[in-house]
Amino acid sequence: MATTGFARITVCGGGNAAHVVIPLLVNRGCRVTLYAPFADEAERFREAAAGGGLEALFFNGRVLRGSPHLVTTDPAEAAEADLILMVVPAFAHGPLLKALSPHLPAGTAVGAIPSRSGFEFQALHAIPERGKKQIIFCGQTLPWACRIESYGRKVRVLGTKESVGLAAIPPESAPALADFLSKALEVNFYALPNSLTVSLGNIGQVIHPGIMYGVLKHYRGEVWSEAEIPLFYQGVTEETARVLEDLSSEIVRMAARLAREFPVDLEQVLTVGQWLVRAYARHIEDRSTLVRAFRTNRSYSGLKLPVKKTTDGYIPDFESRYLTEDIPFGLLFSRAVAEMIDSPTPRINEVITACSGWINKHYLDQRGKLAGPDLKEARIPQHYGINDALRLITVSLGGYG
Ligand code: NAI
Repeated sequence: MATTGFARITVCGGGNAAHVVIPLLVNRGCRVTLYAPFADEAERFREAAAGGGLEALFFNGRVLRGSPHLVTTDPAEAAEADLILMVVPAFAHGPLLKALSPHLPAGTAVGAIPSRSGFEFQALHAIPERGKKQIIFCGQTLPWACRIESYGRKVRVLGTKESVGLAAIPPESAPALADFLSKALEVNFYALPNSLTVSLGNIGQVIHPGIMYGVLKHYRGEVWSEAEIPLFYQGVTEETARVLEDLSSEIVRMAARLAREFPVDLEQVLTVGQWLVRAYARHIEDRSTLVRAFRTNRSYSGLKLPVKKTTDGYIPDFESRYLTEDIPFGLLFSRAVAEMIDSPTPRINEVITACSGWINKHYLDQRGKLAGPDLKEARIPQHYGINDALRLITVSLGGYG
C-alpha cells in the first residue's frame, strides 16, 4: 500500500537513479508516472515495458521488478501528482522546473535527490506565487551507487548509503516526507532543520572538486594504462586531505557565523570527517585520520578518477560532473554565501579558480570575487534575488519576504 498522502508520484528523468526509484515505488503500491522529456528516453522506456519491464538488481542478490504506470513527455500530464521526484543531474533541474511549474496543482511536493546546492531557491523562483503553496524538498545525496545495464530493463545497485538527510520548505514538512521516503525507497531518510543545511552542507562540493584538484594539479599530460588510472577516494593523500579539510572548514565557519547571528540551526553542516563517518559508519575500518578514513572505506573500494579513453590509453575527464556539476551547483553557492557575510574563502577560491580553468569557465575574477561570463550558469542565491544573509535565512525557513 502507498503511504498516505503521496500515492501518485512522478519520477523525473530516465537515468541510472530513475531506474532504481521506479521499481521501489511501484512495489510500495504508488502510482508512478515517469516524466522523461529528454531525447528518446520515453520511447525507449515504453518499448522496454512492452518487452517485460524493468528490474533492479541489488548487491545482496535481491531483485525488484516494476515499470511505471505511465511514461510521458507531456509536462501537464506529469504534473498531476502528489509528489514530484527529480533524480537527475543538477543542470536538468532548471528545465524540468520550468516545464512543470505552470501545471503543478497546489500542495504538490516538489523535490530533488540529490538536490546539490540552491535547488530550493531555483524551485521557489520557478514556481513564483504558486511556490508558496508547494512543498519544496531537498535530499542530501543519492542513496545508491547504481548503473543501468540495459536501458529501461535492468539496473544494478552497487551500494546503498546508511542514511540520507532531507530538508523542506516549509521546514515542518520534512519529518513526514522523510518518513514517507524512508518507507518508499527503503533507505533511512532523516529530517534536517532547514534547506540551508543541505545547500551549505552539500558534501559533494567538497569531496569531488577537492579530490579532482588534489590529483589534477600534478597532472602533466600523461596517458595512463587502465592499471595506472589513479584511485579516486582511496588515493587521497595528506596533501589532498588538507585541501578537503580547508574547504570544509571554510564552509562550517560560515555556517557557525550565520547561526550565531540569526535564529537558524546549522549544526548539521558537518565537516568532511564527520560526514564520512556518519554516512559510512560500518564501512570504514580506520577512522584515526581523514586520509585513513578515505582509504579504508570499503564502499569506495576500487573507484577511480573519472577518465576518458583515447587511442593510447586514458586521460582525466575534465568534463566530469565532479567539476561541471559540483562547482556551479555546489562550491559557487558557498562562495556566494561567503560574499554576503564577508567570510574569507581562500581555499574555495583556489579550487574554483583552478578547476574552472580546466573546464574553460570563468566564475571568479582575479581578486576572487564573483564575476565572469559563466557565473550566470551557477546556482547562487543572488540569481534569485537573495542578496543578503537575512533574506537567505528567511527564505530557507519558509518565509518568502
Ligand atoms: P544520469 O546521468 O544517469 O542521468 C541523466 C538523466 O538526466 C538523463 O538520462 C535524462 O533523463 C536526464 N536529463 C539530462 N538532461 C536533461 C534535461 N536537459 N532535461 C531533462 N532531463 C534531463 O544520472 P544518475 O546517475 O541517475 O544520477 C542522478 C544524480 O545523482 C546526479 O546528480 C549524480 O551525480 C548523482 N549521483 C549518482 C550516483 C550513481 O551511482 N548513479 C551516485 C551518487 C550521486
